[in-house]
Amino acid sequence: MRTQVAIIGAGPAGLVLGQLLSNAGIESVIVENRSRDYVEARLRAGVLEQGTVELLRDMGVGQRLDREGLRHDGIYLQWPGTRHHLDFPDLCGRSVWIYGQTEVVKDLVAARLDSGQPLYFEVVDTAVHDLDTDRPSVTFLDSDGTAQRLDADLIAGCDGFHGVSRPAIPASARHTWERDYPYGWLGILAEAPPSTDELIYAWHPNGFAMHSMRSPSISRLYLQVGLDEELDDWSDDRIWAELSTRLGHEGWELTTGPILDKGITPMRSFVSEPMRYGGLFLAGDASHIVPPTGAKGLNLAVADAKLLADAISASYGRRGHDLLDAYAQTALRRVWRCTHFSWWMTSMLHIEGDDPFARQLQLAQLRYLSTSRAAAQSLAENYTGLPYGW
Ligand code: FAD
Ligand code: DHB
Repeated sequence: MRTQVAIIGAGPAGLVLGQLLSNAGIESVIVENRSRDYVEARLRAGVLEQGTVELLRDMGVGQRLDREGLRHDGIYLQWPGTRHHLDFPDLCGRSVWIYGQTEVVKDLVAARLDSGQPLYFEVVDTAVHDLDTDRPSVTFLDSDGTAQRLDADLIAGCDGFHGVSRPAIPASARHTWERDYPYGWLGILAEAPPSTDELIYAWHPNGFAMHSMRSPSISRLYLQVGLDEELDDWSDDRIWAELSTRLGHEGWELTTGPILDKGITPMRSFVSEPMRYGGLFLAGDASHIVPPTGAKGLNLAVADAKLLADAISASYGRRGHDLLDAYAQTALRRVWRCTHFSWWMTSMLHIEGDDPFARQLQLAQLRYLSTSRAAAQSLAENYTGLPYGW
């Protein structure tokens, strides 16, 4: 097969890229190693920045998001004795939307199939070739077991942290920065109406807790847990009791309900440079991972895809290759900004070890956020999302 852009991975980055290219009249083929059901059900992020929402609308995939998404105009920061509301429109003129990654992916897959452009699910043995030539290619076995070869003008590696794209860049040309945090998040999805109108990020001596949601009847909640903790040690009763303790606030009660899903996710910051090697361009988790506290992972993947789509479109038009040549640097500036924000939110809210000095610093920072407009504005503008060309 021959196409203009070969896209590896049908997560948010690959699907957004494919749709933007399709809208610009550029052909692509997407190959994905999981099934459609699997990618549409994979439970992950839930907060969309305003820029992500506007982009999805502009792309023509915002109808269901506008019907079912929940606009949130702020968050609560909590520590014992205080629940402080940050009002985003007042602080920075923007908002965020609650709309699960599962729903974003369903909308994008439907749009892709409508566009008639190829999307291969359940491929195996994906491999990239000839990256340092102007005829890079991707080989794979399709779901029937037939060997396929895809020749392209360029390859977009949107295959997440465990994909084949990043490792295809020679180790001698790669540089990575990494921080593993000594804790993870135990996340649950529960059939329980949210006990809050907006998300609560809670500092507590027992560890961080967060109250999010997916709809007026479904809550999503998280608990900081040690890396050595097993899911089996967390009965539903124990999870609800710990959530009630850590999220507890005078005059407020947590509504519980059946737990539909639970899992533990480790937390990591990771950036790999370069984001371009010859004809291979990386986007999203293929190149970087942030801890989830700042709600940035999905939004960052979408931002990379937007920058890359604009650069590819320009390269087929009169503007030539300048944007494509600048892609890696432009994307990385924003990636490092979000890496800092996610690390900062994580460090401020999680309990690490038994260090009373560190705890006092965290509380001082939280009090500062609740009393200084400048400090609150900084959080708000990062949380609601910086411009794509930042
Ligand atoms: P992915 O969504 O990982 O998509 C990559 C795709 O490539 C996948 O569909 C994969 O199956 C496919 N693929 C991989 N290898 C191959 C191959 N060899 N051939 C073909 N296809 C391949 N972010 C938040 O902001 N908040 C959260 O609460 C949050 N929770 C998370 C929980 C978990 C368990 C994980 C893993 C991530 C979470 N994230 C969260 C991060 C967020 O979900 C990711 O940043 C986002 O999915 C990145 O999108 P992506 O398209 O770059 O990568
Ligand atoms: C959700 C996840 C996050 O990482 C976050 O910061 C806020 C909300 C969520 O899954 O809803």
